[in-house]
Amino acid sequence: CSGEDTHALPGSAEDNLIVVGFSQVGAESEWRVTNTENIKSVLSEENGYMLIFDDARQEQENQIRAIRMFIQQDVDYIVFSPKVETGWNAILLEAKEAGIPVIVIDRYIERQDEDLYTAYVGSDFYKEGELAVKWLEDFLEEQGRANEPIRIVHIQGTIGSTPQLGRTVPLENAVKRHPNWVIAAQECGDFTKAKSYEVMSSILKRTTDIDVVYCENDGEALGAIAALEEAGLKCNPEDGVIVISFDATRLGLEYTLAGKIALNVECNPLQGPYVDKVIKKLERGEPVDRINYVDETYFDYRTITREMIDSRGY
Ligand code: AHR
Repeated sequence: CSGEDTHALPGSAEDNLIVVGFSQVGAESEWRVTNTENIKSVLSEENGYMLIFDDARQEQENQIRAIRMFIQQDVDYIVFSPKVETGWNAILLEAKEAGIPVIVIDRYIERQDEDLYTAYVGSDFYKEGELAVKWLEDFLEEQGRANEPIRIVHIQGTIGSTPQLGRTVPLENAVKRHPNWVIAAQECGDFTKAKSYEVMSSILKRTTDIDVVYCENDGEALGAIAALEEAGLKCNPEDGVIVISFDATRLGLEYTLAGKIALNVECNPLQGPYVDKVIKKLERGEPVDRINYVDETYFDYRTITREMIDSRGY
């Protein structure tokens, strides 16, 4: 820690480094892997940090255990990506009592716990969901299908996580607004290609009358597309199934360029520089914004280009 070092690891020779404990939710997706690499590369020794990394392997209790260990080690900052929104109150209270600032990244924790963390860095998932739904409304209108029956298969992410809630709620609200839209099936794909392939395959045994498949990340979209194609359905927004996805990973964008994914809403995993900025400000005793949204865009199969994919850093 710069200035008086009140949080150095006991016996550590790294007295001038800022010690950060980072609890990552897991490695379920390409997005997550990129996010981990980015945080590790930015919170590096050359940049003045000593990073203690823990992979919770999708278990909230592992995250709680890791955070408790960071508190015992008296780190300078705790950074964590909460698996779900609920269940953090007690452990964050422990961090607060220990005087360790907590930076929540990627996903939110529930509102009542807001004074238990210093800043949030990540996506605006509700905005992402609203953008996707608006795109679908406009697209169907342009296609002259605004009043036709639209049967939607909805593959959800990890239930109770902010990306699942933010991407689900706008779709469900839109279904309420459009009497001709129906959710033909809704299953959890857990943000993985394998689970999505499995649930999509079983849905296809019940029905192939599907207009839209709304997946909550690229892994799920890839799994769903594999199952749809295996069942002989075409993933093509103009005369087949309209697949919607989130993340805009490199592979997801290849599918968008090929027209198999009609719309890919970006979820930016490059959160390291934002976290670094927040920590450096706190180190200087400057105020920080509580909510720090990362920059995001979207990719439409009609306007995406090869250059857009090649020029991306992830
Ligand atoms: O929290 C971000 C989401 O979690 C990404 O959309 C997904 O790919 C990841 O696993």
